Amino acid sequence: MSDINIRAHPKFSNVYISGVPNNLKLYSKNLVPGSKVYGERLIAFKGEEYREWDPFRSKLAAMILEKPSLEFLTKDLNCLYLGASSGTTISHLSDIVYDGVIYGVEFAERSMRQLIQNSNKRKNIVPILGDANFPESYANSIFTPIDLVYQDIAQPNQAQIAIENCNYYLKDNGTLILAIKSQSIDSVQKSEKIYIQEKRIIEKAGYAIIDNINIHKFAANHIILTVQK
Ligand SMILES: C[S@@+](CC[C@H](N)C(=O)[O-])C[C@H]1O[C@@H](n2cnc3c(N)ncnc32)[C@H](O)[C@@H]1O
Repeated sequence: MSDINIRAHPKFSNVYISGVPNNLKLYSKNLVPGSKVYGERLIAFKGEEYREWDPFRSKLAAMILEKPSLEFLTKDLNCLYLGASSGTTISHLSDIVYDGVIYGVEFAERSMRQLIQNSNKRKNIVPILGDANFPESYANSIFTPIDLVYQDIAQPNQAQIAIENCNYYLKDNGTLILAIKSQSIDSVQKSEKIYIQEKRIIEKAGYAIIDNINIHKFAANHIILTVQK
């Protein structure tokens, strides 16, 4: 038993915290007790096992620490996760939306192999080897309406990729959480200018930007947008 006092996050369902307000640690409750995904610390507390959630390894954790205005996580969400990589963030999302399904799209075969290994005990993750530029190409693997699209893809056309996937899969009033890395779009232009340009693409497509969270403290040249359809 640990001496860390873990408690529910005051705003986000199924997210847990410890520590003091300016130095919080985040956790999710382990859906597969005893198993780690990326070397994270496992903590036993009051009969449950929690996985420490590293904001330097996961932009979703960084975003939550930076206090977004909208609470968008519930246990039964169906999510489309673009850029799943080897499974760090998607594994925490899987702990959180334990009654939902997460379709994890990744185009690098090596990362996909690791994702399959890391998620084979998690019944709510469906790994999909696919290119997010072509949303219709994985339609056969997606068998529920989508409440949340989460995108963390470092590509020059990242806003466009997000819009095309949301047009294709996201329910009306559904939420898009979009990580924008300015250096992937243009390594010379100032980040602020690039963020404005990407936001215009989203608004022009008819989507509303609800929130704009700067996570530079945890991931250089990144913001995260909360967008509603
Ligand atoms: C920054 S990493 C994602 C990290 C991951 N979201 C996490 O927090 O655990 C970006 C991933 O997007 C993938 N990616 C880039 N372009 C893609 C595309 N067009 N379709 C699918 N995956 C793509 C890369 O192979 C890489 O694994």
